[in-house]
Amino acid sequence: MSEKQLANLSIQMERLQLLIEDFQRISSTPKGKVIGWGNENEQFQLEYSIMDKFAPWLSENPKVYDMPGMISREEIQYYHYIAKSYSGWGEVIELGPWFGHSTLHLVDAFSKNQKFDNKKLHVFDDFVWRSSWMDPHYADADRPNNHGDFKFIFERYAANILNNIQVYQGKFTNFDGNENLPQVKWVDKNIEIIIVDCGRTLDANNAWFNIFSKNFVPNKTIIVMQDWRQHRERPRLWYNQTLDFTMQHPNFELIHEVQNGGIATFLYR
Ligand SMILES: C[S@@+](CC[C@H](N)C(=O)[O-])C[C@H]1O[C@@H](n2cnc3c(N)ncnc32)[C@H](O)[C@@H]1O
Repeated sequence: MSEKQLANLSIQMERLQLLIEDFQRISSTPKGKVIGWGNENEQFQLEYSIMDKFAPWLSENPKVYDMPGMISREEIQYYHYIAKSYSGWGEVIELGPWFGHSTLHLVDAFSKNQKFDNKKLHVFDDFVWRSSWMDPHYADADRPNNHGDFKFIFERYAANILNNIQVYQGKFTNFDGNENLPQVKWVDKNIEIIIVDCGRTLDANNAWFNIFSKNFVPNKTIIVMQDWRQHRERPRLWYNQTLDFTMQHPNFELIHEVQNGGIATFLYR
């Protein structure tokens, strides 16, 4: 067999393995209500749903924001669904808003839940421009140079929701231009929902975990990992380490996966 044929065969085998692993996650995840979820007496019923074309969030009809962003429609629908699970005993955190497309939708979604009245979404980013992967999303004249600060663009897009959010500028870990920024700290408040979109490496994920997990509450805290499903990218890319990360945490129970996008959600057991 030629080298090219071997390479093709290897790609086909990888795709098959991916399908099998997807099927394994679908079949090994329980069906119906998430048993033992700490908020289960609340009105909202949390149900398992893995890559389901009848997923409960698919009936959501969020409004459209005409702005750059890195999230899919199904992911936006998902935010609107998971916000309904919020019962108010803990804080809601977003890591990695970039320009705030996700933030605008999260604020819309949580604002519909009365338990969020008088609460703020805590939003963390280093706001450091990385030309190699950010330039393709934004071409306006005020685009920062590599490693420039883009917080002013976030604040412009988020102008109407600045009263609903608490913004923190800092790094989770050293990454491409943020070395001189302080590491973010978290006040000692329990965390009900954390939405993570700040990197796929073990380093990035270990960093946020070490900062925030002391305030996770077993059976209650919900962890939405925006980029988790990118570990399925083929050919494999070295930085897609989200599966390695969650495998290190057997107390992360997979409860949701979208079909179109990267989100997988875990209940902290
Ligand atoms: C993929 S973008 C987020 C996209 C955004 N959620 C959206 O909906 O468009 C990732 C964000 O994480 C931030 N980020 C990445 N690594 C970081 C780190 N180590 N510390 C702080 N922020 C980081 C980046 O600046 C960027 O804004």
